[in-house]
Amino acid sequence: MKTNWYERAVVYQIYPFSFLDNNNDGWGDIEGIISKLDYIKDLGVTAIWFSPLYKSPDYDYGYDIADYRAIDEKFGTMADFDRLLAECHKRDLKVIMDMVLNHTSMEHPWFKKALESPDSPYRDYYIIRKGKQEKGKLLPPTNWASTFTGSAWERIGDSDEFYLHLFCREQPDLNWENPKVREEIIAILKFWLDKGVDGFRFDVFNMFSKVYPFQDDHQKGTFQKGGQYFVDGPRMHEFLKELNEKALSLYDSYTVGESYHPSKENALEYVRRDNHELDSIFNFAHLAADNIADKKFFWKPFNLRQFKDGLFQPQKDNYGLGWNTLVLENHDNPRSVSRFGIDTKNYRYEAATMLATITYLGFGIPYIYMGQEVGLTNCPFDNIEEMKDPVSHFVYDLMTSYGMPKKLAFNFIKYGARDHARVPMAWNDSVNGGFNEGALPWQKVNPNYRQINVEKDLKSDKSIYRYFQKLLKLKKESEAAIYGKLEEYAHDDRQLIAYSRQYEDEGLFILANFSKRPAVYEAPAELVWSGVLLNNYPELENKSGTLKLKPYQAVVLQLAQPTNKK
Ligand code: GLC
Repeated sequence: MKTNWYERAVVYQIYPFSFLDNNNDGWGDIEGIISKLDYIKDLGVTAIWFSPLYKSPDYDYGYDIADYRAIDEKFGTMADFDRLLAECHKRDLKVIMDMVLNHTSMEHPWFKKALESPDSPYRDYYIIRKGKQEKGKLLPPTNWASTFTGSAWERIGDSDEFYLHLFCREQPDLNWENPKVREEIIAILKFWLDKGVDGFRFDVFNMFSKVYPFQDDHQKGTFQKGGQYFVDGPRMHEFLKELNEKALSLYDSYTVGESYHPSKENALEYVRRDNHELDSIFNFAHLAADNIADKKFFWKPFNLRQFKDGLFQPQKDNYGLGWNTLVLENHDNPRSVSRFGIDTKNYRYEAATMLATITYLGFGIPYIYMGQEVGLTNCPFDNIEEMKDPVSHFVYDLMTSYGMPKKLAFNFIKYGARDHARVPMAWNDSVNGGFNEGALPWQKVNPNYRQINVEKDLKSDKSIYRYFQKLLKLKKESEAAIYGKLEEYAHDDRQLIAYSRQYEDEGLFILANFSKRPAVYEAPAELVWSGVLLNNYPELENKSGTLKLKPYQAVVLQLAQPTNKK
């Protein structure tokens, strides 16, 4: 029976590589996670999403799975995982597993068998096509581009065949048209659900279905060559319904899909409650407010209007029909306090708490990425060798191959690199920030760990963690913050962000200054409040409805009566 527990959930994402290395071998591990469950629980979290823990050769750090039913050795054993699950449940923390089902690792036995012989039934588990002969040259079957590298096709040995990979070449795409593949996937979901996990995050799910027959993409100016043929494909809804019918709906499970450039119509269809597909998807449009065309590396000055539109649109679209999620960071994005034009040096506490307030009191499930609760910042990488993400390397190599000087190319990728969020957690000011006891970590440690770490934050008068505790308590206990309708205010203002949430008699008004300059808000007459529920400064300056906000100040007001905003 489905209980919709997710409506009141607050999710904490753990990137296992970098959380805590208990056995001091350089890699984070399950034992390390278990030792910090109380810390996570005390924050006010109700569920944990684990980035992949499965066996993987780590070309894409866990997002290339070689065995969907095994825990990777560096993280621990299946017995360790079972204990982790039990320890989470003991604390009333739900467990959400990452499921990467668009592709496997090239080291998955299915793929190995597929390549072994042209007659192998596993060949049809993947997408393999003959290349095109043009002027005596063998070309890939289509001109599609992979999200991470050049062509989306990789030639198989010296044959005339290619396999499709929409991400790294080490991540061959699965053929979802093959019913056997879907059967295998359903069995994998049930394996984890039977163990007692509470839900899944589906990696790049809206690329499962492709448009057949394959053809070249001649559209200009699209986000990715071929995108129109492999994003939101024609059988997407059918595939999700099948997973639901045969696995998800048989348990009290929750799903969140990581969507990739979905159309507005499809984004709603995926989460519409009466459609029985997914419970929620991630919407990232607001995170593109400081880059060009949602390409993380192409920096542009922060555009607050775009941020607001991206943040609020899905909340308005999904309200009453399905559920929503609220995200600022994850393992694919730089740290939020180090972007959006924020003055991190002077206002890290104010900015981190402001961002959380305006985001998490909206309509949907707050997703917190590990370290965000203490305001961890981007890492000052010195050179490309310090970066581990294959995408950083690909973009760097591409830039330099076009003749861009190395230093320039490095500075270029530094802004949006995924590596920033993937460095070890800073727990305290001991060796390696307390990540382990001194073994060389798999990834550079942010050298600012002596200034910014969990222990220090908890002792500080301006503790971000303690502010998050208050904020999350308010979120979970307020019907308005969970179910309230959202009305936006001050939409055109270039400094302010403001909205109300109202549910029956209860109303909240969230107001913030998203800049380092003081800001003034003339509260409209209909806005009558009875108290300040939360404030990241000691005071709120108010002269007869004219509110003066300090740099990055955020406040939550309790509305005395519902506003009548049309
Ligand atoms: C998703 C993951 C990302 C991964 C990619 C390919 O975007 O979040 O980390 O590299 O899918 O699996």
